[in-house]
Amino acid sequence: MTPAYATLSHALPSLRRAAAAMAALAALSLSANAYAADVDHGETLAKRWCAACHVVASDQSHGQDNAPPFATIAKIPGFDANAIARFLMNPHPKMPDMQISRDEADDLAAYIVRQGK
Ligand code: HEC
Repeated sequence: MTPAYATLSHALPSLRRAAAAMAALAALSLSANAYAADVDHGETLAKRWCAACHVVASDQSHGQDNAPPFATIAKIPGFDANAIARFLMNPHPKMPDMQISRDEADDLAAYIVRQGK
């Protein structure tokens, strides 16, 4: 059996990383108002809300067969961040109505567009 202190010291580095990440996030959300859209927030939302069906990041192995990966969506001609955000504001028959706010739609759209880069 591993003594408790060994487990704790093992967990410490990752705790410290988590604290650093949280500090970075806090700094980010403070500066977020300076930008129209927050791509990192979009990524967080995408992984939480969209990854069940869509492949939302290059390190995700698979999604649902009928849902296009974000990298594919990003390459649809004319489907720019604005169009994507507008699409997300309206319930889509094959997608659950997620009550996405305008800000969240913008962040998600910015993230999706970046997946095509
Ligand atoms: C329950 C599964 C599901 C979830 C969850 C889901 N989607 Fe979809 N989504 C689909 C399917 C299926 C399609 C394809 C619809 C079609 O072809 O008619 C689609 C289509 C889209 C399209 C349009 C692609 C095109 O070709 O016009 C966008 C943009 C999109 N999804 C974004 C998102 C985002 C952003 C989220 C998370 C907030 C999300 N989806 C969550 C299933 C889902």
